[in-house]
Amino acid sequence: MTLVKLHPDAFSRFYDGVGYIVNQFTRTNNLFDINELDYLKAIARIPRDTDDIVADLQIQIPHIPVDQIKANFCKLVVVLENEKLVVTGESLEELKTNESVAYEKPYNILEQGNTVQSINPAIFFYSYFDKHPTLFASQIDLTSHCNFTCRHCFYPPERIPVSLDTGLVFDVLDQLAEMGTLIVTFSGGEPLLHKDFGKILLKARRNDFIITIQSNAFLVDERVTEYLREANVCTFQTSLYSMKPDDHDRITGLPGSLKKTLQGIELVGQSSIPICVGCHVMKSNRHSYMSVLEWSAKRGVRCMVDFFMMARSNFCTENLGESLNMKDTEEVTREMLQYENKYVEFGKSIKKASIDINSFRNKPICDAGKSMLYISSDGDCYPCAGFVGYNVGNVRQLPVKDIWNNSDMLSRLRSVTWNDFPECLECEAFQYCSMCFARNFNENKGNMLKHTSHQCDITHLNMRVATERWFKS
Ligand SMILES: C[S@@+](CC[C@H](N)C(=O)[O-])C[C@H]1O[C@@H](n2cnc3c(N)ncnc32)[C@H](O)[C@@H]1O
Ligand code: SF4
Ligand code: SF4
Repeated sequence: MTLVKLHPDAFSRFYDGVGYIVNQFTRTNNLFDINELDYLKAIARIPRDTDDIVADLQIQIPHIPVDQIKANFCKLVVVLENEKLVVTGESLEELKTNESVAYEKPYNILEQGNTVQSINPAIFFYSYFDKHPTLFASQIDLTSHCNFTCRHCFYPPERIPVSLDTGLVFDVLDQLAEMGTLIVTFSGGEPLLHKDFGKILLKARRNDFIITIQSNAFLVDERVTEYLREANVCTFQTSLYSMKPDDHDRITGLPGSLKKTLQGIELVGQSSIPICVGCHVMKSNRHSYMSVLEWSAKRGVRCMVDFFMMARSNFCTENLGESLNMKDTEEVTREMLQYENKYVEFGKSIKKASIDINSFRNKPICDAGKSMLYISSDGDCYPCAGFVGYNVGNVRQLPVKDIWNNSDMLSRLRSVTWNDFPECLECEAFQYCSMCFARNFNENKGNMLKHTSHQCDITHLNMRVATERWFKS
């Protein structure tokens, strides 16, 4: 008797004619087409005996000889077990032992992940979600309360803080599970300020999501890390602006915040939950943000540096006063290139790939509204977290499925392609551009189809720096 079950860190989902399985830490993943779906569906959280699985498969696919079914299934299980996607054992005890075997969970999560097949799932899903919008990932802001008042924050400081009712969050999580959502991100405001943060995490675990958290880590204590561990959280993302207390605390508006955030990060790290640091570079940390990169590199923590600032969701651009000027942006770009080898590799890959811009004509700009939905702390839904103002419905009034399937605003967004940006299709810097609807929308008083001159300036800067650095060699 060989028992088979999903690995505790692996998650599977089934969409129209497609199966997908992924390990949340290694990001090793596999796609299954219509002919292989039954095999993947047979592997669940509850252990099952191989012979029982084969007997069921025989009923589902009677045109394939039973010996062939068994051989196919056993071959598949060997491959998936090597990738930490399934676990096997001759008894329940052995299964338990095997599933607790430690393996390398990269602290520094890979961007793309490992894929053992010729079809890259990211590329496959980009086209798949374009044709079949599927709510694959959702961010839920549990509360807009925050213990910080960050200078750059896109949430207007004058807004009245609200939290989602726990009952409503549970209901939304059930609806998302039914819709096949794989990834749920809890954010805010500060999500740890929600009174039922722990209960909500455990509910998300029962609903079998990949769970990520965005938090300033100030309130992390032993109780919080216990919940994070129990919920097998995939990533704890936190913001660090500088290792100089004065600079970090000036940005957050709270003296002592760096010290407390570092203590929180330490506790999360001790629980073996992968940490990811977000470091926004702005005027206030321009001369000390590098200390965060150095600190992260020493600890093997992934650090994402960004200097693109979103205007406030109420079209107020006051927070953009913290944005770097072009001279500093250029210097920071050069510093990051020197620091991070991966940017150099990225540049070389752009050099190699000659992109046919015309092939993008009918393609979407991004995933917003195609595979993701942002649910804010008052229940309003938006295509993504920066796109607050483009309200597509409220979960207090409508089921998520109705919003996702019937919103005119989402339909409108889904119909936008690069064809709507004729100037971009003629642009020599197209490959270097990360134009964003939300940025257009917030900075152009609600016009998402008008790109911003700041975007163009940064893109041309990137192209110039890349040309100097890589194209000469
Ligand atoms: C809104 S916060 C919520 C989670 C948590 N309170 C925190 O700060 O990590 C999520 C992320 O958005 C970033 N952020 C806030 N305002 C921004 C802006 N105007 N432009 C770009 N990113 C911003 C923060 O730096 C943080 O990394
Ligand atoms: S901690 Fe996060 S939500 Fe709070 S003010 Fe700062 S960026 Fe905004
Ligand atoms: S740089 Fe400006 S014109 Fe060029 S692709 Fe980007 S947004 Fe469009």
